Amino acid sequence: MDKQPDEVAGMFDTVANNYDITNAVLSGGNAALWRYAVVKAIDPQSGERVLDIACGTGTSSVALARTGATVVGLDFSPGMLEQARRKHSSVEFVEGDAMRLPFVSDEFDVVTISFGLRNVADPKAALDEMYRVLKPGGRLVICEFSRPPVALLRAGYFTYLKFVMPTVAAVTGSNAAAYKYLEESIKEWPDQGTLSQWIRGAGFTRVAYRNLTAGIVAMHRGRKPVDAAVLASVAKRKDAMTRPIPVQSPTNQKPMKP
Ligand SMILES: C[S@@+](CC[C@H](N)C(=O)[O-])C[C@H]1O[C@@H](n2cnc3c(N)ncnc32)[C@H](O)[C@@H]1O
Repeated sequence: MDKQPDEVAGMFDTVANNYDITNAVLSGGNAALWRYAVVKAIDPQSGERVLDIACGTGTSSVALARTGATVVGLDFSPGMLEQARRKHSSVEFVEGDAMRLPFVSDEFDVVTISFGLRNVADPKAALDEMYRVLKPGGRLVICEFSRPPVALLRAGYFTYLKFVMPTVAAVTGSNAAAYKYLEESIKEWPDQGTLSQWIRGAGFTRVAYRNLTAGIVAMHRGRKPVDAAVLASVAKRKDAMTRPIPVQSPTNQKPMKP
């Protein structure tokens, strides 16, 4: 599925006005429970700096800010950010891209993303950025739609996505194309085990997940290592992966033996 950043941001602009109400209806009230689980898992402490990536209308950010932590919400949809700033004056909101975070390295105690990673064009690049801006020992919490492990439930859920969700979205006055995109992006999104591997691949340790609502949603956790040797080995591995393979110039090529 092609997720052009401009098109994704534009699509979220069109649903920004009704986003929260549609979300609450479509999730059957479960959205509030998922948010509560995220706040509990993060357990933000007063004085900690928390980055909420893909914050949307700021509902996820404000739930974290209530605990006394300093929360920064980031999103690339101006329409979603407009709603966020209007509703939640206590939180700082920044326009930016999850794949190029506008922050220095080792800045945050916590990085979190709820229902955002699936929409990012290159989720592995976003995970690398999350790792970069976290302080050593910092906590990562990702909440995302996932794959119910029980086949019967999975079939029922996919039927709901295909037939019930578009009807509900139409009744709440939402953009039908956006909810078609939601269905397709959920179906194509990797399962719990694969996302855990991606998180480990970005360098995180203590990676684990917990299913919420029978696996319709999964909450993933990880830590940026504290140990200097582990940090150095992750940096070396990433450097080796991004360094271009040297091409031999004609001048330093050895003559071929006949
Ligand atoms: C489904 S909303 C989730 C909003 C909020 N976190 C919540 O839980 O209600 C997904 C958000 O991800 C944002 N988003 C998608 N890709 C992004 C990217 N590359 N950088 C920043 N924000 C992005 C969209 O603009 C949208 O506001």
